[in-house]
Amino acid sequence: MRIALRVNGGRHEADVWEGESLLYVLRERLDYPGSKNACEQGECGSCSVLYDGRLVCSCLVLAAQADGHEVVTVEGLAGDGRLHRVQEAFVSAGAVQCGFCTPGLVVAAADLLRHNAYLSDDEIREALSGNLCRCTGYAKIFDAVRMAAEA
Ligand code: FES
Ligand code: FES
Repeated sequence: MRIALRVNGGRHEADVWEGESLLYVLRERLDYPGSKNACEQGECGSCSVLYDGRLVCSCLVLAAQADGHEVVTVEGLAGDGRLHRVQEAFVSAGAVQCGFCTPGLVVAAADLLRHNAYLSDDEIREALSGNLCRCTGYAKIFDAVRMAAEA
């Protein structure tokens, strides 16, 4: 089937098999490789995107469901040639090692800060508990989120 959706503000069409995931469509059909495929089971958060403004795991959204919807990926957070404040903070804090979890964490943190100006450490930890990182031990990730919140 053919679907049409908006990704990062632009209109796209793609021929898809109904059973493939939005993550697959983004990465393999629309050339947005930022969202990562680590588990494809909704467990790790590496594929997190905003879907009609709500944070979702794009591996759990069927391509057919995405027809007519609006998606923002990690590539869409930067604007006017500038990184998003969460992206800048991840770089400044050294919160990236292999980087596989980073796009999902950045999208989730950007969504979190969009809705909350002031956050305790526990609230940050709770909000990002669906995003798994196998490398960093999380300390620098939480530093980065705190840094972005203060920016
Ligand atoms: S790849 Fe989607 S949650 Fe892990
Ligand atoms: S930096 Fe490697 S999984 Fe998070």
